[in-house]
Amino acid sequence: MKVSVTVKELHEAISAAGEVPVGFVPTMGALHRGHLSLVMKALDESPLVVVSIFVNPTQFNDTKDLEKYPRTPAGDLAMLREILRPSDIVFMPGEKEIYPEKDTRTFSFGNLDRVMEALHRPGHFNGVAQVVSRLFEIVGPSVAYFGQKDFQQLAVIRELVRQTGSAIKIVACPIVRESDGLAMSSRNVLLEPGIRKNASSIFRALSEASTMLSRCDIPEIRQYVAGCINSLPGFALEYFEIADEKELIPAVSGSEIISGRKYFCCIAVRAGSVRLIDNMEMRLD
Ligand code: PAJ
Repeated sequence: MKVSVTVKELHEAISAAGEVPVGFVPTMGALHRGHLSLVMKALDESPLVVVSIFVNPTQFNDTKDLEKYPRTPAGDLAMLREILRPSDIVFMPGEKEIYPEKDTRTFSFGNLDRVMEALHRPGHFNGVAQVVSRLFEIVGPSVAYFGQKDFQQLAVIRELVRQTGSAIKIVACPIVRESDGLAMSSRNVLLEPGIRKNASSIFRALSEASTMLSRCDIPEIRQYVAGCINSLPGFALEYFEIADEKELIPAVSGSEIISGRKYFCCIAVRAGSVRLIDNMEMRLD
């Protein structure tokens, strides 16, 4: 595996690999098995894989969150060294490589800007779009891999690709979970032990909620989930929505569910000092 720190080094390493199609996995590091599942998928499908590690400041709407975001570059490189091939590349740029000048671009994603994460993290997706579009421009991939863990981010990236007329294929990868069901996240290491112990309740609440639509209406499902989460000490539900996969319009009542579409229950929770998100496909049978 090669490590590039500058755009110039990255381009040299891509040229040295023979200008073959690139499979790209963008990350912010503090890697875990969720990230590695994306890398494994890329290795399966792409003759050359580029993994980026860059904690993008423009997508943090909360400066404290940016400061305490885990950074484990030595561990990340050790994990990647285990699985990447000799010509594959880890791109670990400094901020000036990505943003030689301040990025003032603003993106518009329609309804995706008005629901769930967009409401609770103003400016977040604009920052994600800035960095991902910039990374796409620098890396020039044929395929890019994203996790379904970040359900709304995936929809935003697909919309970004659609709006820019880009030919990059976006591949969605399933959520990887801890043995108790908690969705893997770089932020999980920040959970206080007493909170971590109860964090699998998020998975359990979603598992139950995902089966409830056949027997209850949405307000009841919301009430059930709020009860599960808010009864735990130190936990507070930020939002719970049932939204369709394409437009992400939250449904208020079961009568709005359109047959033939996929729906996901999406949740954001304050767990102690950490904010966690998760989602699960609704069973509509
Ligand atoms: P990060 O949170 O590091 O995640 C990088 C990729 O790994 C994302 O596509 C995310 O959905 C995926 N991922 C994270 N946890 C996962 C899990 N448990 N199972 C499956 N996939 C998982 O998402 C970002 O970084 C940033 O916003 C980024 C796209 C890199 C732009 O800065």
